[in-house]
Amino acid sequence: MANSKTMQLMEPSSVVSKNWAFCCFASLLGFIVLAMCLSHQRPRVYLAALPEDLITTGLEYPALGGRKKKTSECDVFRGRWVYDPMSHPLYRASQCPFLSDQVRCQKNGRPDSEYEKWRWDANDCEIPRFNGTEMLERWRGKRIIIVGDSLNRNQWESLACLLYVAATPSRSYLSAQSSVHKIFRAEDYNCSVEFFWSPFLVQLEESTGKGRVLRLDTMSASAQSWRAADLMVFNSAHWWLHRGKLQAWDFLEYEGMRVDNITAERAYELGMKTWATWVDKNADPSNSTVIFRSISPEHKQWCYNQTAPIVDELSAQLYGSTLTTIIEKTLAEMKMPVKYLNITRLSFHRKDAHTSVYRVKQGNLLDEEQRKQPIMYADCSHWCLPGLPDTWNELIYAIHVLEIP
Ligand SMILES: *[C@@H]1O[C@H](CO)[C@@H](O)[C@H](O)[C@H]1NC(C)=O
Ligand SMILES: *[C@@H]1O[C@H](CO)[C@@H](O)[C@H](O)[C@H]1NC(C)=O
Ligand SMILES: *[C@@H]1O[C@H](CO)[C@@H](O)[C@H](O)[C@H]1NC(C)=O
Ligand SMILES: *[C@@H]1O[C@H](CO)[C@@H](O)[C@H](O)[C@H]1NC(C)=O
Ligand SMILES: *[C@@H]1O[C@H](CO)[C@@H](O)[C@H](O)[C@H]1NC(C)=O
Repeated sequence: MANSKTMQLMEPSSVVSKNWAFCCFASLLGFIVLAMCLSHQRPRVYLAALPEDLITTGLEYPALGGRKKKTSECDVFRGRWVYDPMSHPLYRASQCPFLSDQVRCQKNGRPDSEYEKWRWDANDCEIPRFNGTEMLERWRGKRIIIVGDSLNRNQWESLACLLYVAATPSRSYLSAQSSVHKIFRAEDYNCSVEFFWSPFLVQLEESTGKGRVLRLDTMSASAQSWRAADLMVFNSAHWWLHRGKLQAWDFLEYEGMRVDNITAERAYELGMKTWATWVDKNADPSNSTVIFRSISPEHKQWCYNQTAPIVDELSAQLYGSTLTTIIEKTLAEMKMPVKYLNITRLSFHRKDAHTSVYRVKQGNLLDEEQRKQPIMYADCSHWCLPGLPDTWNELIYAIHVLEIP
């Protein structure tokens, strides 16, 4: 019985079988052709629902693969978010022992983790996959500094973790961790990545007896330690906009005069000019690279319960655009060529990536009651790690590898 069935199935002379064979052959051929076409595309797991202009440009790409620009001319900041759980996150929080409680959203009870799995994809070129070993090789014997406020610390933590998971763990460690100066050391590479707390870059003098003075014409006291770093990454923005209880200064001073009547924008312009003059005088393009990171956008309280990137707010003015105009003008007037890490727009899409209510406030996690009041308690300014700041650092890596001027 079994034998005759087998015979029937294998019967080569039946018309049905011939048709089948042809059919199978045609399908196979079709499949091969399709597979060859697809292999020219990069694996593209999922398209973020992003604004029209981004999607259109993005979808064109696979067919236009050959038309991608020479990489050094690529604007890596124009592109879109692609959901790609195969490649991201680049590390797990548990692999990075010094990740601070402020940004460890999973440990702090955040229930979703999709925000860790998005990859930034540029329209015009392939962004090289971050390789911590390669980064450390390039940074052998070098000193990297990141200077600014808590968002720069966010970025520094990300970079330290990205490198830590690539370095020999027992030979890499934090060698200083005060609130104003942190150092990550990768001993095997003789490489240091330091964070300096300096939210204005210029000097805030807090104990003058007559109140807290922000000196717009004087660099932060720690600036003398920034000199001769091989790579310097700066940003200053948010603290200039703080008002009321959050405002850090009582008086503004410029060239020995109190200038309390100027606007925040004018103060920012003067402060950034002081920084620019310092960089022009103290950094040498043949020995150092200077990067200015554009403003990290806030989403006010609207980051709560967000689990996917923003779809449709690109027509909205970018967060902090008045300061952006000022800093872009300042950078354009400098002698030192400063690379501009233009991450405001790509970060603005990521309202899902903030620490939100999975944060620490005055050393404590928010309690259940506080979590129910996101308008009061959500932090829509800082970012979870692993998360968005990893992308900022991937773009620093891309700038190095693609040799973007
Ligand atoms: C990362 O870079 C190192 C050093 O350049 C190289 O040996 C290694 O193969 C790279 N890893 C990957 C996954 O590309
Ligand atoms: C380590 O790097 C520093 C510069 O950051 C350099 O001065 C020093 O000589 C290097 N040490 C070794 C052992 O290579
Ligand atoms: C700001 O105040 C200073 C000194 O008090 C004064 O000289 C200056 O004219 C004022 N500037 C403006 C724009 O009001
Ligand atoms: C940059 O390097 C050159 C030669 O290596 C050296 O002469 C110069 O003093 C360095 N500049 C700074 C600011 O360190
Ligand atoms: C930074 O990016 C924004 C948004 O993509 C763009 O409009 C702006 O021109 C860029 N700035 C510079 C200096 O490239």
